[in-house]
Amino acid sequence: MTTIIDGKETSRRVLQNLRVEIEQLKQAGHTPGLAVVLVGEDPASRVYVNSKVKACEELGIYSQKWTLPTETTQDELVQLIHQLNVDTRIHGILVQSPPPEHIDEQAVILNIDPRKDVDGFHPINVAKLVLEDPSGFVPCTPLGCMELLNAYGIPTQGKHAVVIGRSMIVGKPMANLLVARKANATVTIAHSRTADLPGLCRTADILVAAVGRPCLVTADFIKPRAVVLDVGINRVEDATRPRGYRIVGDVDFASVQPLCSAITPVPGGVGPMTIAMLMSNTVKACKLAYGE
Ligand code: GUN
Repeated sequence: MTTIIDGKETSRRVLQNLRVEIEQLKQAGHTPGLAVVLVGEDPASRVYVNSKVKACEELGIYSQKWTLPTETTQDELVQLIHQLNVDTRIHGILVQSPPPEHIDEQAVILNIDPRKDVDGFHPINVAKLVLEDPSGFVPCTPLGCMELLNAYGIPTQGKHAVVIGRSMIVGKPMANLLVARKANATVTIAHSRTADLPGLCRTADILVAAVGRPCLVTADFIKPRAVVLDVGINRVEDATRPRGYRIVGDVDFASVQPLCSAITPVPGGVGPMTIAMLMSNTVKACKLAYGE
């Protein structure tokens, strides 16, 4: 029997707990606030940004949505960040990634006040993650993956976890969370130049796929009874769908699912957790701001 890890249900529970915390903060006179900034026209980014703002509305978190044209200069974007840094209604700032090519994303991130960096992308927060300092912010997607493991009582201690992908948004923070003393996994990070990727993955008790390659992980990557977390959200053409595409993960679910002890589906697995953890980080930022 394979457990299908239900990210929708788990995220609902996380959000329900947050509602209580938000109500308490409001009663103390503090409404958490999030600013979401989108530069450019990327359709997928637009969808993500809208769902982040919608999640705020549903929870009673104050939000600002900034949609800036593609031509926005780096200076203009940094100016907005500085304005949001000093806006006391705003506790979290998120600049949707990836920005247009002429924007130096890293330089923009450096300008976000680390105490408002709810994405956990600022070097101060990256360092705090590596240092296992809980006062920092951890990127939302890997945080959501850890929450899923926790919610399903999946042990990590002494397990071999293989993370495919070395991005700063998912792969690297995921590996850091798994190796930290709270989780105690033994971690390997694999990437596009890894030799014999299927062979390496077959040694994984926990396999995290975060590369953005549709259906890269097939049955020959899987150790029997492994736990598989699929972080991929890929659009593939599908003329039978009204939109002309469908969403698939990095894992070939149909062939992999029967071999696993537990697996996240796409959609409905890791995806909903990302937004829930963003809301959680925003509440944390608000609490930090008021010393609670
Ligand atoms: N693009 C894809 N995932 C993310 C995320 O977690 N945060 C931001 N800012 N951009 C993203």
